[in-house]
Amino acid sequence: MKSLPKVLIISAAVGVFGYGVGVFFSMAPPIMAGAMAGLTLLYGILLTKQHRAPTEKGFFKNVATKIPMVTVIAVALWFGAGYFGFPIWWQIEFVSFSVIGMIFFIILDLKTLKVEKSAGDSILRLAFTYALPSVLFIIITSQLPQFKPEHELAKLNKKPVTRFVPGPEAIAAGREIFESNKCFNCHKVFWEGNSDRGPNLGTKQIGLYSADYIKEQILEPRKIQSPGFEDPKSKKAMPTYYGEDLNEAELLSLVSYLKTMRDPTHMPVEGKFPDQWTWWDDKKILEEGKLVFEGKEPAAEGLNCAVCHGADGIPMMTGAFDFRNPNNPDTDKMPDHMDVTLKDFPDELYYRRVTRGVDNTPMAPWGLIFEHLYLWKAEAYARTFHDPLDKRTEKKPVPPIPTKEEIERWKKEGLFLDPLL
Ligand code: HEC
Ligand code: HEC
Repeated sequence: MKSLPKVLIISAAVGVFGYGVGVFFSMAPPIMAGAMAGLTLLYGILLTKQHRAPTEKGFFKNVATKIPMVTVIAVALWFGAGYFGFPIWWQIEFVSFSVIGMIFFIILDLKTLKVEKSAGDSILRLAFTYALPSVLFIIITSQLPQFKPEHELAKLNKKPVTRFVPGPEAIAAGREIFESNKCFNCHKVFWEGNSDRGPNLGTKQIGLYSADYIKEQILEPRKIQSPGFEDPKSKKAMPTYYGEDLNEAELLSLVSYLKTMRDPTHMPVEGKFPDQWTWWDDKKILEEGKLVFEGKEPAAEGLNCAVCHGADGIPMMTGAFDFRNPNNPDTDKMPDHMDVTLKDFPDELYYRRVTRGVDNTPMAPWGLIFEHLYLWKAEAYARTFHDPLDKRTEKKPVPPIPTKEEIERWKKEGLFLDPLL
């Protein structure tokens, strides 16, 4: 154990190097540093241990000593790969290989065989040594998803989209374009996708934005940075060649698909995972929401919440909802009345009331007339009358990512007012 201090110094150096690697490849630097330093330390300690005379283990002991080790390795591989965003099939493959490795080491540690008696014996043993791992390898890998040449060829031979007719077919075509141009490599769409390098276009609700804005973000991604993606690596991440790769019809189809990315049950979410926030606590959005609320947003001309609800929150019209009182109950004039007060309104209720209005009152279904982008902003601002931004001690939690089932429910229950969704 004399050389332990040396081992510690080397491990610390490797840890610092790991940190640098983490920063450079935008992985988690402390985890990289810890993993590399830890492995070096372990290796060093093993090296400094006194050697013992080798003894042969019985089969049971041989297996029993390997199972706990491989279990730890398999669990670490599974969660490590999950953390770095590897698809589930890769996780399964990594774990399978650790099991194959275990079998290999068990075989290595088996009792020494008796010396072969004849050339036939040697050949038989040699053949068996190759056959066993090969069979294992084939069995395990055949369970994994296969590369299908016909499938890949069909993708290559697919005719480009040349005509754009708005509707469900264009949306389906747009989705294929999204997939085949590898947008999923950087963007999740709600629960789907492989990495969080770019914004989750589902929870961000890119579909709230105008088609022109979305198109510009695809063609000239450097012009406007997505909030929370201002770091130098993110700024340069999104490729700039889509304008050359996609024809006009393909671009329009892609935009129709992106326009479906909305969530009628939550405020949009901004920022790079895991440092995210919702529009409820976004200073810039609240400033824009104030403009909308007071009827000063040119893109939503004619919309003016303040004429009834008051620019300072004091209702200008009798019966108009008073946003200054956090204990105001939900209206009892709607069949879907909820037993909650303003401070506890779920995002979904807020959105439903503002887009669909309150029957037989001046609170009209604004969502049938105005873009929902501006309605969400006005709602976020309306909250400040009873809960001013500068008095808040914490942000509203970022909601969990909606599941496939929830998204189906929005469509089934017609939570969007838009028939295409
Ligand atoms: C190599 C990673 C990468 C790929 C591939 C990629 N993007 Fe992006 N994208 C980003 C990053 C990072 C951002 C955020 C920084 C920025 O705004 O440029 C972004 C931003 C965007 C935005 C703007 C979001 C906003 O807040 O307004 C849209 C829209 C978008 N991407 C669509 C796409 C589409 C469609 C594709 C495929 C055709 C694609 N991206 C492919 C990394 C990528
Ligand atoms: C023409 C007047 C008018 C305008 C404009 C108006 N509202 Fe209202 N709003 C009302 C009235 C009246 C009520 C009360 C309805 C009732 O009797 O329950 C109301 C109720 C509400 C409620 C409470 C619904 C509930 O759950 O009880 C919300 C939230 C709301 N308005 C938001 C807005 C927002 C945001 C805007 C702007 C985008 C807006 N309103 C524009 C008149 C208006």
